[in-house]
Amino acid sequence: MKRRPEPELMDSEAQALAYAEADFNDSNSLFTERFLARFGDLPASGQMADLGCGPGDITIRLARALPGWQLTGLDAGPNMLKHADRRLEGEALSPRVRFRLAHLPDRSLPVAAWNAVVSNSLLHHLPRPGILWESILDLGAPGAAIQVMDLMRPDNEEHAQRLVDQYAGDAPDVLREDFYNSLLAAYTPEEVSSQLIQAGLDRLKIETPSDRHWIVSGTLAA
Ligand SMILES: C[S@@+](CC[C@H](N)C(=O)[O-])C[C@H]1O[C@@H](n2cnc3c(N)ncnc32)[C@H](O)[C@@H]1O
Repeated sequence: MKRRPEPELMDSEAQALAYAEADFNDSNSLFTERFLARFGDLPASGQMADLGCGPGDITIRLARALPGWQLTGLDAGPNMLKHADRRLEGEALSPRVRFRLAHLPDRSLPVAAWNAVVSNSLLHHLPRPGILWESILDLGAPGAAIQVMDLMRPDNEEHAQRLVDQYAGDAPDVLREDFYNSLLAAYTPEEVSSQLIQAGLDRLKIETPSDRHWIVSGTLAA
């Protein structure tokens, strides 16, 4: 099925609220558990960036699991970031976790300063996929741990609809619609592999850990 792009930002108040209140436990715990299993030998402390962090659920999960690390969630959506900041209020994580407005590519971000760079569900929103891979190359320190996950485009619209019914059957309409549009806008693993080669990042490896996700992980050259 031909890819059908969707808008870059999903930051109306209604969209940000629906997204922040949605239950993404399955995919967010998949992301976090895969990161911790893949990078079990991380140093005790370091700096991590979460690109397109949205309402910050993954950033906060990783911060809880990595008590010596400083985490920065970066996102272009002010409404999403309001929800992320609100989520931090109930946590004792505030000095180690912060959320910052940044529209990638963002040349004001510190270069080669992050020992880990992660991103979930951002790639399919970008007007050009190279923006994500170039940002990772710019921001990651030598040897940085990298993990990127996103949806995988199904073969056809019927398959996309089946996935929406299976995994978002009870979700509000606005979320079901976002999920459907995101599936149609997503890249296939083959397309992502080509992007990695083109970006000079083919040392990162791609896997398909579920029927609707691919995940890229590895380290930058030391
Ligand atoms: C589908 S949400 C994913 C949020 C979060 N990573 C998660 O897994 O729940 C995509 C996010 O990417 C952000 N975004 C889109 N384009 C961006 C860009 N160029 N720079 C930074 N963030 C961007 C949007 O504002 C939105 O919050």
